Amino acid sequence: MTDLKDIIDIIYIVAAVLFIVGLKMLGSQVSARRGNMISSVGMLLAIVATLMVKGMSFQWIIVGMIAGSIIGAWAAYAVKMTAMPEMVGLFNGFGGLASLLVGWAEYEARPDSPVVTLVSIFLTILIGAVTFSGSMIAYAKLAEKISSKPVLYVGQKLINALILGVIFSLGIWFVVAPLETYYIFLGLMALALILGVLLVIPIGGADMPVVISLLNSYSGLAACAAGFVILNKVLIVAGCLVGASGIILTQIMCKAMNRSLANVLFGGMGATAGKTAEKAEGEVKALNAQDAYYILEAARSVVFVPGYGMAVAQAQHVVRELGHLLEDNGAEVRYAIHPVAGRMPGHMNVLLAEADVPYEQLVEMEPANSIMPTVDVAIVIGANDVVNPAARTDEASPIYGMPIINVDEAKTVFVLKRSMASGFAGIENPLFYLDNTRMLFGDAKATVQALVNEFKSS
Ligand code: TAP
Repeated sequence: MTDLKDIIDIIYIVAAVLFIVGLKMLGSQVSARRGNMISSVGMLLAIVATLMVKGMSFQWIIVGMIAGSIIGAWAAYAVKMTAMPEMVGLFNGFGGLASLLVGWAEYEARPDSPVVTLVSIFLTILIGAVTFSGSMIAYAKLAEKISSKPVLYVGQKLINALILGVIFSLGIWFVVAPLETYYIFLGLMALALILGVLLVIPIGGADMPVVISLLNSYSGLAACAAGFVILNKVLIVAGCLVGASGIILTQIMCKAMNRSLANVLFGGMGATAGKTAEKAEGEVKALNAQDAYYILEAARSVVFVPGYGMAVAQAQHVVRELGHLLEDNGAEVRYAIHPVAGRMPGHMNVLLAEADVPYEQLVEMEPANSIMPTVDVAIVIGANDVVNPAARTDEASPIYGMPIINVDEAKTVFVLKRSMASGFAGIENPLFYLDNTRMLFGDAKATVQALVNEFKSS
């Protein structure tokens, strides 16, 4: 006869399968929303199965669920789209803290656990603490609660390596004699918290989203280690999935910025922000909405290139409206998405999906670049770094080597932004001075609305 434990195990397997299927579906914009739902159902099943474990005391779980749901729902509603990366950072940190507390509680309850459990507790504390304190610093930098500049000092890597060495030495002592090392345990936890801070302070604000993705991966590993501590299979599987997908995302982001992970972690990039070797030359040519309309009206092929400024202006709906009007006018319309446009992975995709832009009109960077010389007008909406030709030509530029969308190869380029201010990397953009570029100054939403009005009134 099947006993309760077998039923719980079967539910765990179903939950793990749903996680994997959901994760796979996140790979395409068409299925991403359903994928998210499927993974959520998996999580619900995992919670229900866990509640079925005999001897479980429900009251604290329910208190935790209610408190967590209220805080989570409030945070999700209150957060601005532009502040999403720092919220993800905070959530990662709390994930690390939760794993740390699981490890700590298990040690308090059963200090004489077997060696395997003690090693798992040690790893949970180490990874959980680094994730927590590192994420708090990443959050503070992104939210500009502290300076986002890299903090660099002599012997930094050596000090970090020494601290890590001490933590591992204390860890071995703890595993060998867990009953006599309570204060050693607390000491190694404090050192791991300090290490998290020290690992993130040398990284500049511009690289913080990459760090957040890496910390997301760490939070998965901490959960996985916590799963070994309490022997919960679904926690181990979910932790591994978060750990692996986080590291893959980190790699994708590094590749899109043409940086190695080591360079992000130890390069102190962002320290160079504000400096560029080559001074942009040429004349800035501003255009008003009416003149821009005449050019657009004649265009047969138009590519929108959105960036962070579109998110700030919340211009996505009116951009979609302009896209429709251009199509009605006989133009082929596409939206070129740079992998690191905006401030978080998929930022532009989310905004354009919210505005119901058809998926088939979205093009990735490489196909966009291959058609760019045939494009009549490229409309850059609040993007800057991701269309900066200095990335191709200026070896002294901090973004040199980063693949960009080559809007400068289009016949005409409209750049919609409020001023000549730089973007996230803090560098000048020679695109604004090119012969085929026209600047449309102003808030992106207001400018696009003015173009829409021109189309409607003509
Ligand atoms: P940015 O280079 O940051 O440029 C955004 C531009 O938007 C600014 O120059 C700003 O100019 C303009 N802007 C701001 N508010 C606006 C508004 N209301 N209306 C019109 N324009 C507005 O953006 P990007 O091109 O999307 O590049 C993203 C940057 O973030 C890259 O450096 C990338 O490496 C970095 N980053 C992104 C990620 C991810 S995952 N997305 C991860 C790590 C780093 P004005 O102030 O003149 O208006």
